[in-house]
Amino acid sequence: MKAIVYTKYGGPEVLQIKEVEKPYPKDNEVLIKVYAVSINDWDWGLLQGIPFINRLLYGLLIPRKKILGSDIAGRIEAVGKNVKQFRPGDEVYGDLSGKWGGFAGYVCARENALALKPASMSFDEAAAIPQAAMLAIQGLRDTGQIQPGQKLLINGAGGGVGTFAVQIAKLYGVEVTGVDSSGKLDMLRSMGFDHVIDYTQEDFTKNGQCYDLILDVKTNRSIFDYTCALCRNGIYVTVGGSMVRLLQALFLRPWISMISKKHIRIVVLKPNKDLAYMNELFEAGKVKPVIDGPYKLDEVPNAFRIFGKGDHKGKVVITM
Ligand SMILES: NC(=O)c1ccc[n+]([C@@H]2O[C@H](COP(=O)([O-])OP(=O)(O)OC[C@H]3O[C@@H](n4cnc5c(N)ncnc54)[C@H](OP(=O)(O)O)[C@@H]3O)[C@@H](O)[C@H]2O)c1
Repeated sequence: MKAIVYTKYGGPEVLQIKEVEKPYPKDNEVLIKVYAVSINDWDWGLLQGIPFINRLLYGLLIPRKKILGSDIAGRIEAVGKNVKQFRPGDEVYGDLSGKWGGFAGYVCARENALALKPASMSFDEAAAIPQAAMLAIQGLRDTGQIQPGQKLLINGAGGGVGTFAVQIAKLYGVEVTGVDSSGKLDMLRSMGFDHVIDYTQEDFTKNGQCYDLILDVKTNRSIFDYTCALCRNGIYVTVGGSMVRLLQALFLRPWISMISKKHIRIVVLKPNKDLAYMNELFEAGKVKPVIDGPYKLDEVPNAFRIFGKGDHKGKVVITM
């Protein structure tokens, strides 16, 4: 089968199309013919071997997992003898992070990493959903405890998480402000953001506005700046970003909530937990993935380049 392989850490130029052996499912796994895969921040970090924790986990000098790709959609071709939930022919999607291997013709996965794909959802749409939509749902609902009537700000609004988050937030009847670069603001307006801020022109932590809830996918500022932008009893939820800033948030949050009555929370992704809920929202026409692409297999290095520069809108999807 064809796969996108990397044997050393580096930029998109180290990704190569190669013929590799088709995997064989273990007793508790299914074999999936992959139709679409999307790029996540994790793929980008693993490609370069940053942050250093990725090297500790996945190979100090050379990557142990040679094929990236966690968010996949495809059709089950074979099932191991202990598999109960799925059968050959089922169309499925899910987040295989930790196992990876999605940038390939076939991949094996455990049942609990997969959900059935609704017939009305394309493979490209399904591949866009797993990580970004879970982070959006879990960040807003579980960690942020979003409430009707709130003022919400999404920082890094035009990428994968932000474009799901605004659609989910609107179901709660909140007023949403999106922060991103100028080239994405028209798209944000067309998606239903009530207000947009170009971060290159305006600093949302210093413009005199306050928000009940902030969902941040970048976390590149001091936690004190974010606290300034929260209303009393407001909640700042970080999905990810700079390691230094995340550690700052982790250690200072008890003190900040004690002194200021504002709350700092960190999302810990529960992969695939809410895929059934996403299926419901999709089938009801309430949420639709925003797709950048789809790109073809031989365009993968370029698709990574676009992702790395932050030029994408929504999710970068590759049709296999
Ligand atoms: N918590 C967990 O368990 C967990 C698990 C997996 C992933 N994650 C995290 O989830 C996040 C993934 O988010 P995503 O998929 O939405 O990323 P994304 O698709 O790369 O989107 C990020 C957006 O932020 C914009 N941006 C860049 N710099 C900015 C700034 N200074 N201020 C405001 N916006 C800025 C980018 O556009 P421009 O470049 O054009 O500005 C882009 O539109 C990452 O932080 C990742 O580490 C967390």
